[in-house]
Amino acid sequence: MEIDRWRERLKQLPLGDLYLYEEVGSTNLEAERLAEGGAPPLSLVVADSQIAGRGRLGRTWITQPGQALAFSWILYPQPGLIQSETLGRLNGLGALAVVETLREGYALPAQIKWPNDVLVEDRKIAGILAEAHWEGCQLLHVILGLGINIHQNALPADASLAFPATTLEECLGRKVSRLDFLVQVLQALLKWHRQLAEPSLIKAWNELLAYRGQQIALSSAGGTSARGELLGIDEEGALILRTERGEKNHILSGEIQVRLVDRS
Ligand code: BTN
Repeated sequence: MEIDRWRERLKQLPLGDLYLYEEVGSTNLEAERLAEGGAPPLSLVVADSQIAGRGRLGRTWITQPGQALAFSWILYPQPGLIQSETLGRLNGLGALAVVETLREGYALPAQIKWPNDVLVEDRKIAGILAEAHWEGCQLLHVILGLGINIHQNALPADASLAFPATTLEECLGRKVSRLDFLVQVLQALLKWHRQLAEPSLIKAWNELLAYRGQQIALSSAGGTSARGELLGIDEEGALILRTERGEKNHILSGEIQVRLVDRS
């Protein structure tokens, strides 16, 4: 990663401070440390290589040098925008920005797998990790981390992945610039960030939701927790599932397992 060139380009965007690294453990962890030190709002942490990146549910997310995008955005509470009521929308914000970039910039049929994955034709191309930090019941800051598979070697060779994965290079059959893609995603993030509390964000999230209208199973740490028809996302970013008994359940966390469902 040519840090000076990346910095020059990223400086054109209305962000806070820029922290660009060749290698970090986790950009989310680094962003948390910087937020604790008073980094300005909308500051950005980008790493070429991430050796102990964090995924959801305690998973790791390793980023090989030159292959992917791994970055974190520092957000602070803001009345009417970033507050406890809108925290459930942050994964949607990140996913929406990536999906919009893939669709509008690269004509790819990207979708959001609730709560935080971006898929292209049923394969995961990006993951989002929004982490809120509190002191007692006071929200201190939120770190929005995005990991996007760009070049082919972004994927582990041993295929030890929980879900089939792909890269932008594989989807397009050609290489693309990581910096161009990053700038486009940041522009989309800035746009959707302004609409975080608006109905338009939930509307767009619903329109781009994978498996809508389909029977799914939801797993949680304790195993499969619910099954039913995926109806959509509610105002808080919770999944709405219609159970076999016809009840509508609003579910705040879990992981969609389409392959657990008997589709015969
Ligand atoms: C997931 O799908 O489980 C979420 C993965 C999120 C990975 C990104 S990479 C940049 C940021 N820093 C981290 O440590 N994690 C997120």
